[in-house]
Amino acid sequence: MVGGAAVAFKAKTESELAKARDVSLIRCIPEPSYRVGKPGWVKDCNADENAEWTEARYYGAPMPNVDQYPEPLPHEAIEEIFPDVFLVHGSVRMLPGTRMNRNMVVLRQGDSLTLVSPVRLSAEGEAALDALGRVQHVMRIGVFHGLDDPYYVEHYGAEFWSQAGSDYYKAPQLNRVLVEGGPLPIEGAEFFAFRGTRFPECALRIPCDGGLLITCDSLQYHTDWSYCTLPARAILKLVGFSPRMLVGPPWRKYMTPRGASIRPDFERLLTLDFQHLVGAHGRLCHGGAWEKVSTAVVDAFGE
Ligand SMILES: [Fe+2]
Repeated sequence: MVGGAAVAFKAKTESELAKARDVSLIRCIPEPSYRVGKPGWVKDCNADENAEWTEARYYGAPMPNVDQYPEPLPHEAIEEIFPDVFLVHGSVRMLPGTRMNRNMVVLRQGDSLTLVSPVRLSAEGEAALDALGRVQHVMRIGVFHGLDDPYYVEHYGAEFWSQAGSDYYKAPQLNRVLVEGGPLPIEGAEFFAFRGTRFPECALRIPCDGGLLITCDSLQYHTDWSYCTLPARAILKLVGFSPRMLVGPPWRKYMTPRGASIRPDFERLLTLDFQHLVGAHGRLCHGGAWEKVSTAVVDAFGE
């Protein structure tokens, strides 16, 4: 049994599969095409490279391994939207054939990079990221965005910042807790926590050009359907998305406790001073963001 060891899969063929035996229960992560229960060959990543491969089946949970991470999906080039503030407009697969856009914000201080709502990049994109500085911090600001956090934390040895309990994605292990009044990796940044939601969610205000609000799913500014496949567009329209500033409709439903309202959180958010907004979906709202958020709050919760 290879239980608990970090393991890697060897490339396999149909004939190899035919020969495979159900040898052991292992805990490792498959290549993207690999399925639970299918046989393959593994070996301890810490073992000598000449070590024998072991036949096994995949049954386990993710373990740190270079092949375990979700593959990069299409994204635009890194764009500097304000001095030392960069945006990557990328994508995420929700269901088979259903893909929508997803954003990562990169904040630079000196040589240090903080990734907010990480999105894994192509080799070319990652080289461009490396050219900006050293990835030292990874921030999860919404409970439903953590798909690519393990890749960056483990690949770069970055510190992982998140609110306690923001564990829809179980990995990586939290080592810097985001709390109101607590430390942040970005000097001058302001932390805003939603207090009335069922699960953790927060936002960051960056003091650039009148204030940039960085949100996750709570507020999104859509101007187009970029990276949204036709099935995704149909679903998004059905649940209330359209090109405008909006309170994420499914997010609001899921995050609102029964019999309660999360409107007070948005009213408190509107006491922040910001001109611009970028969420984990949609586009940058450059200018007039506070007014658009005010309208979005009325759209979502009424006058
Ligand atoms: Fe989202």
